[in-house]
Amino acid sequence: MKQFSVLFADPDKNVHDGHRRMIKALKPSWSLVFASTAREAMSKIVILRPDVIVSELGLTLEDGSDLLKTVQQAFPEIIRIVLSSEPDGESEVVLRATQSAHRFLAKPCKGEALVEQIEKAGGLRRLLKSKELLEIIGGIPYLPSLPTIFHELVEAIESPLTSLSEIGDIIARDVSMTGRVLHLVNSAFFGLPRQVSNPQTAVVMLGINVIKSLVCYVKLFFAAPDVIMPGLSLDQMWLHSSLAARLSKEIAANCNAPANVQENAFLAGMLHDVGKLLLLDHPRYYNRVLRPLSESSEKVFSEAEYATFGTSHAEIGAYLLGLWGLSDQVVEAVACHHRPSQLNFESSVVLRATHLANALLCMAAGENFLVDSTIMADPCVKKSFAGWKKRAETLYRESVNEAKSSAG
Ligand SMILES: [Fe+2]
Ligand SMILES: [Fe+2]
Repeated sequence: MKQFSVLFADPDKNVHDGHRRMIKALKPSWSLVFASTAREAMSKIVILRPDVIVSELGLTLEDGSDLLKTVQQAFPEIIRIVLSSEPDGESEVVLRATQSAHRFLAKPCKGEALVEQIEKAGGLRRLLKSKELLEIIGGIPYLPSLPTIFHELVEAIESPLTSLSEIGDIIARDVSMTGRVLHLVNSAFFGLPRQVSNPQTAVVMLGINVIKSLVCYVKLFFAAPDVIMPGLSLDQMWLHSSLAARLSKEIAANCNAPANVQENAFLAGMLHDVGKLLLLDHPRYYNRVLRPLSESSEKVFSEAEYATFGTSHAEIGAYLLGLWGLSDQVVEAVACHHRPSQLNFESSVVLRATHLANALLCMAAGENFLVDSTIMADPCVKKSFAGWKKRAETLYRESVNEAKSSAG
């Protein structure tokens, strides 16, 4: 069982006593450290390098910089959890914290819930074997959006005629915005009794003012720059992700999965390559993985990632989505979408659908991609495989024709 070292930063010493009592009763071997100010927290972090920081909102250093943001920049590998008494999940202080915090909890929080969140977030680290990658990912504050979708969203929120469901439809087409709204709506500030996996539902719950803040003030949503890594096409990545989402949901529906599982299959399909996006800002990573390759097919690319770092964009994306509190089914499907047999228990419908959708679309695009043998052994897959393969080819062909006609 993993032992964690946790630093609690809170100006109220009574809160320290409460946490000490609660956590020591449940996890006597964990190492707990307490700080009342941002300055005290930073000096303890520099010496002790805890696994996790649990902080109240609004703690600032002498120069006015935010504690969590400073930790993110200086020690990106430390997991950052907000535990706050701020009652309003839509306040700017909360929305701004989404740039630097992985998880949000509201006070009062029971000891069991706090321990569960720390264990879940801390346990995700096992996905990434390289310390270098943990640092790269922990430090990334932004995920870019496809420029066309971003500009469509800006126009939509400026028009008084646009409905929330139209805004939800735009956001659901973008990989980064989908991840971000689900991160926010699933935080404890919204106090929802169940996990939300549907970006349109998340947008309705957040409301127009929060979406406007995310675009205009907090700038959590932003368009990708024109020039990104050579060998990577953002348009193709988005197209591949949105087709994978559609196909993954159709496969889950064909396997008679209930509606919530179909929704998770759609989401996992949409987000399965989010790890590639995370690394756009890191030429160091890409130069070591992508540049030596003569072709950039997904299979060749992921094999080069494993050979260089012992991990791939699949685990990297899953790590972030897990820290953001997305459902275990989605995180697992994203983590294993290239290597489903690395799981030592039976794969879920969501993982099978995501793996198949990705593999079939890569094959439809002419890539040399094999479906995992453990997935092929599934009776539902055996029965319907030929039909899904044809469907992937149709979806891919239609999207290529559509792109050609809108370009010409
Ligand atoms: Fe992938
Ligand atoms: Fe993919």
